[in-house]
Amino acid sequence: MPASVTVTETQQAPVVQIVNDLPLDTQIENLIRGTDKINITRAKNTKVSFETGADKTGLELLPESTRKRLEADGIDVSKGYPEVPDRSKIPIFVDQAHAIRDSDVPFVDRGKNADPEKKALFGAATEVINLTKNVGTEIVGLQLEDLTDQQKDELALLIAERVVVFFRDQKLSPTAQHKLGDYLGNIEVHAQVPQVPGLPGTSVIWVDYQTKKGMELNFANSNLSNWDSTRYLNVGNQGWHTDLVHERQPAGYTHLHLDAIPSVGSDTIWASGYGAYDKLSDELKKFLDGKETVYVSAHQYLDRDDPFGGPKRIERVHPLVRTHPATGWKFLYVNRGMTKRIVGLSPVESDIILNYLFDVYEKNADLQVRFKWTNTKQGYGTSAIWDNRVSQHRNVWDHEGAEPRHGTRVTSLAEKPFFDPESKSQRESLGLYLHKWD
Ligand SMILES: [Fe+2]
Repeated sequence: MPASVTVTETQQAPVVQIVNDLPLDTQIENLIRGTDKINITRAKNTKVSFETGADKTGLELLPESTRKRLEADGIDVSKGYPEVPDRSKIPIFVDQAHAIRDSDVPFVDRGKNADPEKKALFGAATEVINLTKNVGTEIVGLQLEDLTDQQKDELALLIAERVVVFFRDQKLSPTAQHKLGDYLGNIEVHAQVPQVPGLPGTSVIWVDYQTKKGMELNFANSNLSNWDSTRYLNVGNQGWHTDLVHERQPAGYTHLHLDAIPSVGSDTIWASGYGAYDKLSDELKKFLDGKETVYVSAHQYLDRDDPFGGPKRIERVHPLVRTHPATGWKFLYVNRGMTKRIVGLSPVESDIILNYLFDVYEKNADLQVRFKWTNTKQGYGTSAIWDNRVSQHRNVWDHEGAEPRHGTRVTSLAEKPFFDPESKSQRESLGLYLHKWD
């Protein structure tokens, strides 16, 4: 315990005594770090207090298929699972969180120079199935672990074009998943999200673990439509969102591998940002091209200069319409959960326009694919790799935790967002019909 603060735990709450004249922010940080009675992560509506390090109780909940996958990879789970980030390193103040990745990092999109016909990838697959006309392709007969660099480059381009690509029946170790993510971009290591022990950047996606630890997620509060998590606390990941939009270089290719899948339910839905942009009229496109928008983090922090002013999110400004470096197509970069406002418009104007854009993204079924994760072989897992730049997604929590659902996610951060005024939309580029409004 730091010398500046004494915490006496009573049955109700810690009693704090300030015993010297250190700056207020230092004392608050010491207090928060010094007791696990305070929820340090300030994430969503969880009252869950995770302990630092590997979690013994999590080990007891681990699905058998997950345990086998981890052990086959030589992951040491003897101390517990998952590994919760060190409490002493979790940011308390928003400036600390903002500083984590705040300089330019080189990124080359692997899809940029790939063979547009993807002969190496498609030639090796037994089947390539487009699950809908506009979004989502499933590849059959290939193991992700065995792909050559040429096939990986073609896969990157395919994901960039089709938004999300699926592989069932995979024998994929967390280490191999991490290696693939490293090839596809700069792996994001989250300061707060539980990880696979010894593999930073391999995030554990395991909602039933959180519910068993006390997160209140149920039929009534899950899957609520049009949930605006910038204004209201939300639970889980069922609202439409794009991952990590607040980053200086936001998420690109993102890979979720499920190794424990409910026999029915727990689907995920993706929607296309290319399509959302192409639904707009030419006049609205013209208005939006070149505009900038403020994006916020999912996690919340304190303001060092106003620590009692309530939770604050990391904010960053990016173009509202972006150009994809591999496809060259324009896309709409907004999501209801984490897009705060359009720069230069009044709050009322911004709300009206953003709400319309969210609706276009969320409500057009021809821009969406709904994926059932089920495998055809016992003991195998299923992978979805999507491009977080050009999409939104949401999980459907209809299984209500009755059967375990566990996955590992590796997110490859991509380029600093840009808008090229010379770039075309997807339909324009492909020569597809676009309506002209009089
Ligand atoms: Fe997500």
